[in-house]
Amino acid sequence: MTSSQESQGSHQSQESQESQGARGPAEPVAGALPGSSGFPGTGRRVLVSGASRGVGRAIAQAFAAQGDRVAVHYGSRRDEAEATFASLDGTGHALLGADLSDPQATARLAEAAAEALGGIDVLVNNAAAAAPAHPPANTSYEEWTAVWQRQVSVNLLATANLSHLAAQRMIAQGTGGRIVNIGSRGAFRGEPAHPAYGATKAAVHALGQSLAVALAPHGIAVTSVAPGFIDTDRVAHRLDGAEGEGIRAQSPFGRVAEPAEVAAAVLWLASPQAQWSSGTVLDLNGASYLRT
Ligand SMILES: NC(=O)c1ccc[n+]([C@@H]2O[C@H](COP(=O)([O-])OP(=O)(O)OC[C@H]3O[C@@H](n4cnc5c(N)ncnc54)[C@H](OP(=O)(O)O)[C@@H]3O)[C@@H](O)[C@H]2O)c1
Repeated sequence: MTSSQESQGSHQSQESQESQGARGPAEPVAGALPGSSGFPGTGRRVLVSGASRGVGRAIAQAFAAQGDRVAVHYGSRRDEAEATFASLDGTGHALLGADLSDPQATARLAEAAAEALGGIDVLVNNAAAAAPAHPPANTSYEEWTAVWQRQVSVNLLATANLSHLAAQRMIAQGTGGRIVNIGSRGAFRGEPAHPAYGATKAAVHALGQSLAVALAPHGIAVTSVAPGFIDTDRVAHRLDGAEGEGIRAQSPFGRVAEPAEVAAAVLWLASPQAQWSSGTVLDLNGASYLRT
């Protein structure tokens, strides 16, 4: 995992740099709905963590397709992040690497994203560390502590740290904002083989709800989504294997989610119209797990 971070530089065309400078900060649009506070629905400056592939890539593509400028963040897979970057509609995007288990690198990422985009209007906390299965009965204490450290540092602490950094920028900008966290169905349903993952995702949901209350006076809405299985490389070994049929059968639709379906929900939660959804944890699980 690289701890370096690079502003887009060589990957950002002259055209996109000029476009970024000319456009400047996103301009508030007159509120389409009462209480939407003039938060813009396009032309926003969006930081997506963990956008090298999978859900993060789909989210970056969805924002770019509707006219937002995106800072594509990656951890270790620079080549895949470059593919994400190259796939984005429009100009003025940035490509930034940072190890989110390092709070200082995380701070440099927020700084670089704000510099490259001219500010931050939307933060999507999507990055999550991969973890080997660690059921308590079959995992050594050494492995157990290592997995928990890693999961907490990336899934929870980096989400908290990036939220703090982005919120402070949004408050200084004075134009409101949106923070959307990618949580998980596992927070509710239990993750017997990945308890650290389930616990950190539950904490991400709770963090989002506390921040929703704390940041509402600044026009910042904070939400989370709680997806079930999504068809990404991260879980391909489970979906392609013998376990896959059972996983698809968890939903009465007989399938798992596509990354674009999660991205569509994130796009909505980042919209001006979704301010009143602040504090929500939105289930995206194809009716595979119902809670009241
Ligand atoms: N796939 C599912 O079934 C599923 C279900 C529910 C929720 N989710 C959630 O959806 C989100 C995306 O999942 P995905 O399937 O797209 O996962 P993924 O392909 O493993 O992507 C994870 C992203 O996080 C980044 N990352 C991991 N550790 C990092 C670190 N230390 N520093 C910086 N970046 C780091 C990775 O960067 P690099 O690749 O560049 O290292 C990658 O971009 C995650 O929050 C996951 O928990 C997924």
